[in-house]
Formats: sequence, structure tokens, C-alpha cells
Amino acid sequence: MQLRRWWVLAAIAALALLVAACAEDEVDEVDEVDDEVEEEVEDDVDDEEDVEEEADEEEAVDDLGLAEEGLLVAGSDLDFEPFEFIEDGEEKGFDVDLMNEIGDRLGVEVEFVNSGFDTLLTQLDGGEFDVVISALTITEERAETVDFSNPYFAANQAMVVQADSGITGVEDIEGLDIGVQAATTGADYAKENFEPDATVVEFPGTPEAFTALESDQVDAVFIDLPVASEQAEGSDTLELVAEVDTAEEYGIAVQMGNAALLDAINATLAEIIEDSTYEAIYSEWFEGDVPEQFQ
Ligand code: ARG
Repeated sequence: MQLRRWWVLAAIAALALLVAACAEDEVDEVDEVDDEVEEEVEDDVDDEEDVEEEADEEEAVDDLGLAEEGLLVAGSDLDFEPFEFIEDGEEKGFDVDLMNEIGDRLGVEVEFVNSGFDTLLTQLDGGEFDVVISALTITEERAETVDFSNPYFAANQAMVVQADSGITGVEDIEGLDIGVQAATTGADYAKENFEPDATVVEFPGTPEAFTALESDQVDAVFIDLPVASEQAEGSDTLELVAEVDTAEEYGIAVQMGNAALLDAINATLAEIIEDSTYEAIYSEWFEGDVPEQFQ
């Protein structure tokens, strides 16, 4: 009898141990399952984050506000050396290099479309281009129809004459015919300040104005200073005799309200100035130091 009771007790004890062990296992298992569930949930969250990131990146590209994704169409009057001109069938110049650099950084191809200066902004407004970059001075009047990027260049106006003309400055303009490019800030300035003492003669393009000067059809050309210097330096007969401080700044124009493109251009422009790429492009086309505002 004693012996039997002992067995029963031993059996109960063994059973109790077994139950306890099983219960522990179960707890472990539950823990494992918990861990797995947690991991899966974490993975899901990661995946979701990845998807969101991808979406953001895609949106950034889509969201450049371009008429055709991946292609930035730039309207310009490609006859304004050293800013934009065509040589050997290729677009060249400071504006061209700058725009291509911006395009590279935005991951889009830049295509230049050559057009007359006087229609560029209407064409932009009509959706023919994504931007206009054409040594285009930022003015209040123009800003009523298009949006401008932050300034990317500072320029004044200047007067070029035949070296043997005896004209030495703007004080000699009485009775002169002064050639300008139509629809430019130079044309406006000349009309406001030189007329009626002088006669302002408008030409559709800058080359025509200089050809007229060289063939004595006009007595002077009034034009953006960097272009005036380029022409005078490249000629034996022309001379730059006056600089007029108009404190102009060039900007890249986009369609009014195209904030996505404007923001992208401004951010990229800031980067290009910040990392001295601006300076590298500038020194390709101009002598002297980069103005402080673009350093
Ligand atoms: N800066 C001047 C203006 O905005 C002249 C620009 C002429 N540009 C050109 N590519 N022809 O009126």
C-alpha cells in the first residue's frame, strides 16, 4: 500500500513537470510567432517606405512641369554672342552651357529652339517652349506675362561706333542714328533717353544692327555690354565708347505659374553657383572675376 502511494505521487510529480515543460515550450513558440509577426510587420513598413520613396522620386521627375517628360525645350534668339549663338551647326555660349548644366542636373535633355527675340515670350506663353533663356533681362513688364528665375547674370548697356567716327560717348548722340535690337531693354532705354536728340533704328536681330553700323547705315549700336565688347573686340573698325549703367539682371523665364519648373531651376542654379560650376562656365566666356552675387 505504501509503495503504491509513492508511485502515484511520483507519477503526479512527473506529470506536473511535463505539463510545466510543455507550457514553457508553448510560451517559447508564442514568442517566436510574435517575433515573426513583428518582423513581417516591420518588413511591410519598410516596403511601404520604399514604395513611397520611389513614388517621391518619380513625382520629382514628373513634377518638373515640362510639356514632355524628360525633355526641356528652351526658346532662344541664338544670335547674341557670347550668350547664345550657332557655330558649326551647334548651339554655343554662356546661356547654352548654363542651361545644359541645369538640364543635366535635373536629368532631362535640353533642346534649343531658335526664334526671333521679339516673339520669344509670346511663344513661351503659348506653350511652344518650357523656358526662355536668351540673355533676357528681368523686367516688371515682362514679369506680368511670365515668371522669372532668380538672376543668373548682371549686365549694363553699351554703345559701339566706328572707331574713326569721332563719336566719343553718349554726349555726342545729337543727330545720330542709333541701331538697337527690337523689343530689347536697350531699345527701350534708347527711345526713352536718346530721342528726340537721336533717332533710334530698330533691327530684328543683333547681327543686322552691327552690319548696319559697319556699312554706315547707322552711327552707333546700343546693346548689352558683354555683346558690345565681344563685337568691338572681334572687329578692326568698331569701338566701344560708352557704358551705361542700367543694372540689368538676366533670368530664365517659365510660363506663369509653373512653380514646379521654376523651383527646380532655382534650386539647381543655387547649386551650380555654390559648387563653383558657375565660375567654371563664366570663365569659359568672360574675362575677369565672377561678380560676387554669383560666387
Ligand atoms: N538683355 C536684353 C533684353 O532682355 C537683350 C537680350 C537679347 N537677347 C538675344 N538673345 N538677342 O531685352
